[in-house]
Amino acid sequence: MLRRLHKDQPESFAFTPANQAWAEAQITKYPEGRQASAVIPLLWRAQEQEGWLTRPAMEHVAEMLGMAYIRVLEVATFYFMFQLQPVGSVAHIQICGTTSCMICGAEDLVAVCKDKIAKRAHEISEDGKLSWEEVECLGACANAPMAQIGKDYYEDLTAERFSEMLDEFRAGEVPVPGPQNGRYTSEPLGGATSLTDHAAQPDHSQNASVALATGIGDTVKRIDGTEVPLRAPWQGADAADANPVAAERDPLLPPSGPDGNQAGRVAGDDPAPRDRGDASDGVANVRGSDAEAIGTPEEGTVAPDESAATPSEADRPAALEAARDGEADDLKRIKGIGPKLEKLCNTMGFFHFDQIAAWTDREIAWVDANLEGFKGRVTRDEWVKQATLLSEGGETEFSARVKKGDVY
Ligand code: FES
Repeated sequence: MLRRLHKDQPESFAFTPANQAWAEAQITKYPEGRQASAVIPLLWRAQEQEGWLTRPAMEHVAEMLGMAYIRVLEVATFYFMFQLQPVGSVAHIQICGTTSCMICGAEDLVAVCKDKIAKRAHEISEDGKLSWEEVECLGACANAPMAQIGKDYYEDLTAERFSEMLDEFRAGEVPVPGPQNGRYTSEPLGGATSLTDHAAQPDHSQNASVALATGIGDTVKRIDGTEVPLRAPWQGADAADANPVAAERDPLLPPSGPDGNQAGRVAGDDPAPRDRGDASDGVANVRGSDAEAIGTPEEGTVAPDESAATPSEADRPAALEAARDGEADDLKRIKGIGPKLEKLCNTMGFFHFDQIAAWTDREIAWVDANLEGFKGRVTRDEWVKQATLLSEGGETEFSARVKKGDVY
């Protein structure tokens, strides 16, 4: 395929302020005179912001890095991960068509794309929401056939399941990524036959990628700078005050992808679709529906009640030594709580929806500040609101899916 600039280009490009700050921080990773080394992460960030890589975006990156535009164009046209034409507003689907996937049914998936998206690769569907292409091996051959959609992998696909998934994306839902036949990673469908001790661990239900996708929910979300504060830990603590990107890295996030981060995510950041409240700095960041729900101002950032910012041990909610009647509620029915977080809650003495539903603002702040590795999740994911509904016998859209077994 000839990779060239799209005929219709926007007039200009600018990173959002947070993305610009992140990009400037990336450049400081490299020695003087080697700033061009940041070209791939910066281009990737631009693509994650816009959906595709425009000429003005490349020119902007070239200017930031002191590179000739042609050098940036060479990089952008060489790597197929860069989209040089507009993509669907909801998702761009990348079907692996290499050997393992091909013999396991990739051609059927391509046929679904032709039928439900557009006849030709890189064409956008009539409703503007989806586009597709066939790509080379994405390294998940043991789970063939598979597709990368947004930032995540969907594996062990059938034409029927894939077709359903496209309907779900169109309807504004985001199917849970990972194997679609119910198996864990690439273990046998019937369960592990070796390393069975490991398989018996309580968190042995989601691979790391799926845990991130369900916990953070950014599978097809565009990076717009309203995420959690972006991170540049190499700049040191002093920079944290001066630079909004400097902060400690969330231990939940494993490194991978184009610059040592999650595949499809960009280096050094928390690729969260929704901002994570962080009680440690007293600022809760929210966006999207969360932002609307609590009336957040510009940039989706809101300063919480000062009195809730510094919780003490006196604010610790009442805990139980064990679940009542030996039967804990399935806290994973609260969106944002996965197996690890549920275990952590239980360790802290929280087993039931009604316990969480009763938390006061100060108790929420205490829990948010003490969820090691998951700080701010109570506020970010509105646990209390969800738990109140569940404790009254109601269901959320998410909890109903968990109940059905579609999740976990
Ligand atoms: S052949 Fe499809 S992921 Fe490797």
